[in-house]
Amino acid sequence: MRMVKVSAPGKLMLFGEHAVIYGRPCIVTAVDQRITVICEEIVGDELSVLALDLGIKDYHKKITELGSGSNIPKEVKFVELALKNYRDQYGKIGGLKITTKSDFSSKFGFGSSSAVTVAVLKAVSELYSRKLTNKQLFDLSYKTVLDVQGVGSGFDLAAAIWGGTLYFVGGGKTIRPLKTKPLPLVVGYTGVKADTTTLVKQVGELYKKERVVVNNIFEIIEMITKKASHSLLKGDWVKLGMLMNMNQGLLESLEVGSDKLSSLIYAAKNNGAYGAKLSGAGGGDCMMALVDGKNTGTIKKAIRKQKGEILDVQTGAEGVRIEL
Ligand code: MEV
Repeated sequence: MRMVKVSAPGKLMLFGEHAVIYGRPCIVTAVDQRITVICEEIVGDELSVLALDLGIKDYHKKITELGSGSNIPKEVKFVELALKNYRDQYGKIGGLKITTKSDFSSKFGFGSSSAVTVAVLKAVSELYSRKLTNKQLFDLSYKTVLDVQGVGSGFDLAAAIWGGTLYFVGGGKTIRPLKTKPLPLVVGYTGVKADTTTLVKQVGELYKKERVVVNNIFEIIEMITKKASHSLLKGDWVKLGMLMNMNQGLLESLEVGSDKLSSLIYAAKNNGAYGAKLSGAGGGDCMMALVDGKNTGTIKKAIRKQKGEILDVQTGAEGVRIEL
């Protein structure tokens, strides 16, 4: 029986969250915390899922019934829909066992669902000796994410597939690698799990109420993101930090900040960070601060004092890869 092991990285959104949903660019970096998926052929005609990190011990579904029924646990929806979409597009698949394991908690907002989706599709296509291009893998993964949650720009899928640091335009219209040095970031987790779909809808409501104003906010976020891509390429951390602060101010104006995010962001800024902002949908999850090597320790301590959890991550990690 054949078996394939694949891993894909999580991500941090550096610039342009929310605006990217409205066709503007964003910058995302893959982090060195990965999700591993083992995809094995098994006898029979069932999908079996083992995802202990997500509390899934023994999930079974007939391959012919993938995606049907209303009782699919949230944690396996991405796996099941990914396999259904693969089958619909590329033909019959047999009995499969999928085992997932994560280096990081799904609470952090590092894009665990997207990394799992990418890893499952890469693994099943390798198992059936079908070489998908990165763009084919992206399109099938993006369809899966939209099938499951209805919203999303797909930036996290691009990070999981291509890795590195990317300049990305919504839906994958542009996916451009940015050759940068590793970013000196300190990442702090607020302890609050944010719900991306709710926050995207909340910004959508604001957009409906104040279309011109919100469009102008997105316009400035786009300007900041473009300038940030140049600063990243030059390694100009002073300017990049300033742009992070500006982006954070605009995210506050979209009302996706929170007391906890602000307390960690100000702890970092007041202790010498070049800049700091939330990363992702907002409302909780993580913030990040761009730091100078000399003050890293002080900034970490200040974030911990505000009850933030420091997450040690390196940026620009490798994209999806076959492990076995
Ligand atoms: C969430 O991590 C970032 C958003 O822009 C949503 C998305 O781009 O899919 C809010």
